[in-house]
Amino acid sequence: MNDPNTDRIKKEAIRLQKELTGHSYRYHVLDDPVISDVEYDMMLKRLIEIEEEFPQFSTSDSPTKRVGAPPLSGFKQAVHSIPMLSLDNAFNDQDVLDFHKRAIKNLNQEDIIYTVEPKLDGVAVELKYENGTLVQATTRGDGVTGEVITQNVRTIRSVPLKLHEGKMRAPSLLEVRGEIIIKRADFDQLNNGRLEQGKNVFANPRNAAAGSLRQLDSKITASRPLDIFVYGTGLVQGISFQSQSLTLDTLKDFGFPVNSHIKSGLTIDGILKFYKELETLRDSLAYEIDGMVIKVDDISLQQQLGEKIKSPRWAIAYKFPAMQKTTTIKDIVVQVGRTGALTPVAILEPVNIGGAMVSKATLHNEDEIKRKDIRMGDKVLVVRAGDVIPKVVKIIESERKGNEVPFKMPVHCPVCQSKIEKTKLDKSYINKCVNASCQAQLKERIRHFVSKKAFDIDGLGKKSVVQLVDEGMLKSFADIFSLEKEKLACLDRMAQKSATNLVQSVEESKKISLRRFIYALGIDHTGERAAKLISEQFSTLNDIMETSEEVLEEIKGIGPETASAVCQFFSNVENKAIIENIILSGVIITNDQPVIAESQDNPFNNKRIVLTGTLQSMPRTEAKKQLERLGASITPSISSKTDFLIAGEKAGSKLAKAQKLGVTILDETRFAALLEKFV
Ligand code: IVH
Repeated sequence: MNDPNTDRIKKEAIRLQKELTGHSYRYHVLDDPVISDVEYDMMLKRLIEIEEEFPQFSTSDSPTKRVGAPPLSGFKQAVHSIPMLSLDNAFNDQDVLDFHKRAIKNLNQEDIIYTVEPKLDGVAVELKYENGTLVQATTRGDGVTGEVITQNVRTIRSVPLKLHEGKMRAPSLLEVRGEIIIKRADFDQLNNGRLEQGKNVFANPRNAAAGSLRQLDSKITASRPLDIFVYGTGLVQGISFQSQSLTLDTLKDFGFPVNSHIKSGLTIDGILKFYKELETLRDSLAYEIDGMVIKVDDISLQQQLGEKIKSPRWAIAYKFPAMQKTTTIKDIVVQVGRTGALTPVAILEPVNIGGAMVSKATLHNEDEIKRKDIRMGDKVLVVRAGDVIPKVVKIIESERKGNEVPFKMPVHCPVCQSKIEKTKLDKSYINKCVNASCQAQLKERIRHFVSKKAFDIDGLGKKSVVQLVDEGMLKSFADIFSLEKEKLACLDRMAQKSATNLVQSVEESKKISLRRFIYALGIDHTGERAAKLISEQFSTLNDIMETSEEVLEEIKGIGPETASAVCQFFSNVENKAIIENIILSGVIITNDQPVIAESQDNPFNNKRIVLTGTLQSMPRTEAKKQLERLGASITPSISSKTDFLIAGEKAGSKLAKAQKLGVTILDETRFAALLEKFV
């Protein structure tokens, strides 16, 4: 008779093997995962544990025996000279300490020095260089055999076709391993373009990179913004490496992009500290990382430690919490924005995504809901990236039960009950509440008015704004400046101290630049950039109020929609009265634009500039600050409207794009020479 506990474990093992095989196929072959990587890794970790304890349940086709999924047909296949292993995962400090202890024990050493690298979330590839020339590129495939994607990889600008031989002659054979990625900004641009063309959008940069590499037509790959970072080698003949850190230095010298957040010489304590640092940095990086890879630095020690079937004993991946999770949509509600636009919002079964509880996700608009066929009750994949509002990526169709309820856009504003109008915006439609005195719109307009980049009034958070509008104390922007401490202190949840603080920060906000003031008004199509461009062309608010659409349209960077919206705003009698009251309550608008920007030999004034690569003389943030002081606006991506690309070292796809579009490129020396006159 079998022990019931063993029976239960056997069932669990079979279920995990089946589910993991399915998920692995979806991920590797279909590029359409339905669970997050961390969820997958957790399941796999559990299965490995079971199979280690009960080897009788470890079947020959268990996912624990495989490094990946079979390659797709259509490409030639190649066997890797040395198998491309995968990594074990650590999910907490203890897992890392255990890894360290095992290594110490195996090596019989006091301590170990590690190199730690960001774990890039892309597609693993191997590049083979014979006598310095790229002759073959392969995917990892199942770790033993990969697909030959040489033509496609050759289109990636950051992949050297020939090794740079500045410091060292190219060896007879060099197999380099790395990760192909798409940067966040490039990914957004790619998806926006696809939306405009009515194509499906990619769920995340990794899927977009995988899809782009798997094209039989390399012209399609060439049109995708792929990038690479390399992190190791396969078979090498003609040189040898002593350590991981020296390998990376040599690869850098040979012209490969090596990630700039790699740290060498770390002890175990340093690793745990660096994990926290990297986690804080994570959202601000230009590309996605899903953890860090810890590697024993000394290669002879790596060899002593050796490998298991699937992964080395000398390296481990310390994963970050997932930024994508699955959860259920409990309800879909409609929010009214400051322009009256209705945004459907999914109310979710709360879920912890990357350390933050998420209970709401934007659904953008009615079209998006239709396109993704999102219904109340659906199981969905939700993504949280940086500090942007969480988004619903897609529904999990296999979880559909049939009782999910489709969403219907209301015909009346859910707040003021006015009729909703459908208006066209770019290529899609938006539903708008057209009642200008709708309370919901007023609350949102005031929130924008007091926000950080506008009047920056502390103490007027979302809850206070709602409360003050509901109490009738804020009927327009102007009322903010006549709030009285005594009246405020009588309100629920408003202590004497908060009332005093609020009145004081209102007082302190009264001196404001013209640029911030224009932005604060929340005029349609007039964001930070437009507000900056307009305020630079006029000395006073009055001048702007009296100008014409034609004059505004002449400003470089201001389009007809903004010009018309601004004129309409200032010709509205109610708006004029509100502005008059704001000024009467003591608000002083300064135009503290740097005179320097106007100077004759300033080549940067009113120019659209993109910064790329690493600058030696100053951090990028400093370059940005300097350029903005000189009247330039810094944009994240290259377009035909870009005036200059400032390219530091290791400039990648942006440099290539600028060359293609004929944008003027300044290298660091030229940039520094031009800047010198103004510092
Ligand atoms: S080293 C034996 N370094 O993570 C060492 N891998 O699960 C194997 N990855 O297939 C890889 N960044 O696609 C290494 N800095 C890095 C990495 C990295 C991302 C990926 C790689 C690999 C997977 C391991």
